[in-house]
Amino acid sequence: MSNDRIGLIGCGAMGSALVKGMITRGGVDSSSVFLYDLNDERKKQLAAEFNCIPANSYKDFVPDCKYIFIAVKPQDIEGLLYSLKPLVQPEQICISIAAGITISYIESCLFSGAKVIRLMPNTPCLIGEGSIAISTGDTVTDEERRKAESLLKPLGMTVRLPENLMDAATGLSGTGPAYVYLFIETMIDAGVSVGIRRDVASKLVIQNVIGAAKMLDSNAQHPAELRNIVTSPAGTTSAAMLILEENGFRSCLIKAVREATKRSKELRMG
Ligand SMILES: NC(=O)c1ccc[n+]([C@@H]2O[C@H](COP(=O)([O-])OP(=O)(O)OC[C@H]3O[C@@H](n4cnc5c(N)ncnc54)[C@H](OP(=O)(O)O)[C@@H]3O)[C@@H](O)[C@H]2O)c1
Repeated sequence: MSNDRIGLIGCGAMGSALVKGMITRGGVDSSSVFLYDLNDERKKQLAAEFNCIPANSYKDFVPDCKYIFIAVKPQDIEGLLYSLKPLVQPEQICISIAAGITISYIESCLFSGAKVIRLMPNTPCLIGEGSIAISTGDTVTDEERRKAESLLKPLGMTVRLPENLMDAATGLSGTGPAYVYLFIETMIDAGVSVGIRRDVASKLVIQNVIGAAKMLDSNAQHPAELRNIVTSPAGTTSAAMLILEENGFRSCLIKAVREATKRSKELRMG
């Protein structure tokens, strides 16, 4: 088995992001990347776009790959794992991004001692700005985990988390971009409602989010400190904050993250 070979099962939104990042920014040799999807057209399109190898069946590539990325929906994972069971060898590493599906569940469907890594990525991985939580099974060595992290580097930043926090990572970070998009969409509508043209409001709001995030990223200040700097006595920000507090902005967001975390756990239960 070539150590460099990578197999990806599931060429949808996240699978495509993984392939794109590894090949275009990570310098992975596209001729060592095998793709498979039940949707033949999707598989062929992705393979053509990045010069990877479209496989006709699991057995055509799984036995030859060191890393097998699993990027199908949680409800499709059980059937897939039973198909993979006779093909996966103890030295191969299965890397799953399925929300709610635990390492021990994957091991139990494959075999005891199978090497499994669980990820929770998010869609900004498509442009190399993702956040990826990573948990590893007991049989994955530190070196294997580091190699997997280096494969993921071109997709964004990785954070190691104990597995019991992976549902929380799903609710906070896997789902995270949707909260930000909703915030941006609402702010644009707010700009329109106070008389600013939609295209101009859109530019202002997006740059606001980019600028504020960069401020946080570039210095070690707490978000509240930066917020205090723009909150002058009896000023506009102070008036706005009162309305947000009165209407439960924070508790609403916290509840949303908790609900998404709960849903991630439910997906596992089926
Ligand atoms: N989207 C996100 O923001 C996000 C974030 C973090 C994690 N995730 C996780 O990423 C995984 C994939 O999500 P996605 O949004 O990329 O899903 P998606 O766009 O639906 O892609 C999944 C693909 O896998 C195919 N497929 C299903 N069963 C298969 C099998 N047994 N063998 C080969 N291919 C199979 C599907 O084909 P059909 O359409 O024909 O079924 C589909 O093309 C999920 O487990 C999700 O929890 C997603």
